[in-house]
Amino acid sequence: MGIRIIGTGYYVPERVLTNSDLEKIVDTSDEWIQSRTGIRTRHIAEESTATSDLAMHAGQRAIENAGLTPADIDLVVVSTITPDSPTPSTATIVQRKLGIPPCMAFDIEAACTGLLYGLDIVHAMLAAKHRKTALLIGGDKLSGVTNWTDRSTCILFGDAASALVVQRTDEGDEDFYVASEVSANGYEAGFLQIPGFGSACPPSQEGIDAHAYTIQMNGPKTFQMAVISMSNACRNVMEKAHVTHDQISWAIAHQANDRIISAVADRVGISDRIYRNVARFGNTSSASIGICLDELNRSGQLKRGDLILTAAFGAGLTWAAELLRW
Ligand SMILES: CC(C)(COP(=O)(O)OP(=O)(O)OC[C@H]1O[C@@H](n2cnc3c(N)ncnc32)[C@H](O)[C@@H]1OP(=O)(O)O)[C@@H](O)C(=O)NCCC(=O)NCCS
Repeated sequence: MGIRIIGTGYYVPERVLTNSDLEKIVDTSDEWIQSRTGIRTRHIAEESTATSDLAMHAGQRAIENAGLTPADIDLVVVSTITPDSPTPSTATIVQRKLGIPPCMAFDIEAACTGLLYGLDIVHAMLAAKHRKTALLIGGDKLSGVTNWTDRSTCILFGDAASALVVQRTDEGDEDFYVASEVSANGYEAGFLQIPGFGSACPPSQEGIDAHAYTIQMNGPKTFQMAVISMSNACRNVMEKAHVTHDQISWAIAHQANDRIISAVADRVGISDRIYRNVARFGNTSSASIGICLDELNRSGQLKRGDLILTAAFGAGLTWAAELLRW
């Protein structure tokens, strides 16, 4: 039995929001944003665009990239913190929009770590031989949950979706999933959250006035936790797999902030092979790692057998590191 990632894709909306555009919205500067985050632009969806629209385009591109058709998919998993609505799941909406035949479809929520949570789940389901070909999507319309009056958060986020097609074959013994650490610490959830909207804080005018339906974050604490959790997880995974940093072809850390990426790369000893695109997209939550993988894949920079070290961090607090074989 073999399990491989056979297709990648991503989608960002056309509209680009630059740092100078943000200077007109909040008290900030291009210089401050670039020096503290490395971000220059981010893509922002139209009001009428839903997460499922972003996800559908990314999914379509990944299915095409895999050389398959929607009829070949028998599992759809969407990671999102901005579902179209509480129910039905965004995964079922994407299934319909893509014309995928009836099959298991569900959402997961692990914030910016969502795509790596999803890969762990999808891999386990394929390995158990319950399904053959999974479409895994990480997608978020973060602009809809951004407080556009808070300069410490509104500069960070962008809208996007990315998708992977993961397939089990009955020939060969290749398994893309080499080793992983996938975890969470709910005791630290208060540093990064959207407190309102759910059953604990239903929609209300008070909630709107208190910005309870938008991302609230302790930036410096989040920064520190991100660096510690991702670098420790990377080292643990390399140790589990008996792999040293010189054997890794590419490293992809969640694209939240260029300084976080550099700090993780330094600690893990992979600064010369760490992929970066946060300057163009900002923090796109669970889409970010899939966008990096797709850019590397389509630009021909991945060779069969390459080891790719991935790491992510997000609200929950959640984190993961996964060592993948291309
Ligand atoms: C948000 C972040 C960029 C802020 O950078 P920082 O260097 O930690 O800055 P601080 O929050 O300590 O703020 C320093 C000063 O800059 C100011 N500031 C914050 N945002 C600003 C902005 N956009 N423009 C100008 N000044 C800003 C603050 O008000 C503060 O001013 P003060 O010293 O007068 O109070 C940084 O903490 C970060 O990236 N954190 C992680 C965020 C993240 O990745 N979240 C998602 C995880 S999935």
